[in-house]
Amino acid sequence: MNDIFLNRAARPIQKLVAYDPGHDLPRLRERFGDIIVELGSNENGWGTSPKAVEAVVKAARDSFRYPDPLGLGLRARLADKHDCSEEEIVLGNGSHELLMQLAQVFAEPGDEVIYSRYGFAVYPIGTRAVGATGIAVDPFPRDHAMPLGTDLSQIPKAITERTKIIFVANPNNPTGTHFRIEDLKALLQQVPKHIPVVVDEAYTEFANAEGLESAISLRREFANLVVSRTFSKAYGLAGLRVGYLVAHREVCELINRLRESFNVNLLGLAAAEAALDDHEHLARVREGVLTQRARIAEALTQLGFFVFPSQTNFLLVDFHRRAQPIEDALFERAVIVRPMVPYGLPNCLRITVGNPAETDRLIASLIEAKDAA
Ligand SMILES: Cc1ncc(COP(=O)(O)O)c(C=O)c1O
Repeated sequence: MNDIFLNRAARPIQKLVAYDPGHDLPRLRERFGDIIVELGSNENGWGTSPKAVEAVVKAARDSFRYPDPLGLGLRARLADKHDCSEEEIVLGNGSHELLMQLAQVFAEPGDEVIYSRYGFAVYPIGTRAVGATGIAVDPFPRDHAMPLGTDLSQIPKAITERTKIIFVANPNNPTGTHFRIEDLKALLQQVPKHIPVVVDEAYTEFANAEGLESAISLRREFANLVVSRTFSKAYGLAGLRVGYLVAHREVCELINRLRESFNVNLLGLAAAEAALDDHEHLARVREGVLTQRARIAEALTQLGFFVFPSQTNFLLVDFHRRAQPIEDALFERAVIVRPMVPYGLPNCLRITVGNPAETDRLIASLIEAKDAA
C-alpha cells in the first residue's frame, strides 16, 4: 500500500491490523478437492441443520425483498428462549459485528478496554479501531487447572476511571478454558455498575463442566451484563452470519443507533429461526463434539502433547516446540489447523473438533507428522 490515503485515514485505522481469518480456504479447496479436512475455524463438522436448509431454500424466493430490519421473528424466538423481552435482544451479522459495535458505542480515544491476554482477537481489534487502549490482564499460569485461562480476579485490579468496557469469553477462544458462574458473579459484584461486562458465549453449547453456566441467568441482577451468542458454531450457520446480544434495553438501543438497518439478511434470519427449532440436530452436534473432543484429547495426550482442557469445539495443543513444522506437515496432508503465532503461542496449534471421519484423518496425520522438523 502506498501512502496516498494511509495518512489521511482516521488515526486509529492507520495503525490497525486486520483480523486474520487463517488460511485462504477457497483456494485450498480448489487445490486439495474433497480430501481437505478443515479444522482451522471452529466450524460445525456435522453441517447445517436440514430444517435450516429447507427454510433458506424457501426464503430465497423472497430475496428480491429487503429483510425485516428489526428481525422481529427471530428476536421474539430468542426472547422466549432466554426469558427476556425483544428489546433486550439485538441481532448482528455474526457476533463479531456486535463485539466491534460494543467497543464503538462505549469507547473512544483515551479510554481503556479490558480483556484477557489470551482472548478472542476481535476484542483488541475493536478496541484499537476506536482509538482506545487495550488492557490485557494476566491469565492463569501454565500450571493452573485452567492454563492460560481468563483469571477473573485480575480484572478489578485493572479497572481505572478510564475503563469503558470489559470483554471475557466463556468458554474462551483460543484456550478452550472456562470459568464458573460464581466467579463471574463475584467479578460483577466488584465492577462499577456503569461499565458493561461482555460475556462472549460463542461456544456455550459445547460446555459440560460443572459450574459452567450461561451468564444470562445473572442479567436481572446486573444491568451492565451483556451476553453475546452466535449461530456460527453449534447451530452450524457460520456462512449465514447471525449472532446476537442479550443486554439491557438501553445497550441494545445504543447499538441500534449505529447498526446497519438490514444487517442480518433474509436467509440468515430464516435459517436461525429454523435452527432454533431443530433440537435433534443440535443434540447430535453437541453429542458428537463431546465424544470427538474426548477422543482427540486422549489420542494427542498419548502422543506426548499437552492438550488444554476444553469446553469448546476446538482444542489448543502445545507441542513443546515450535509447532510450525507440524502444521506444515498436516497441511501437506490437507489437514488445515490454526497456527497460534498471532496469539503469541508459537508452540501451539488450535484444532477444531471435527466429525468422526475428520478425527480419523487428524489423528492418522498427526501420527505421521509428529516428528516433522
Ligand atoms: C470467542 C468468539 N466470539 C465470537 C466469535 C465470532 O463468531 P461469529 O461472528 O461467527 O458470530 C468467534 C468466532 O470464532 C469466537 O471464537
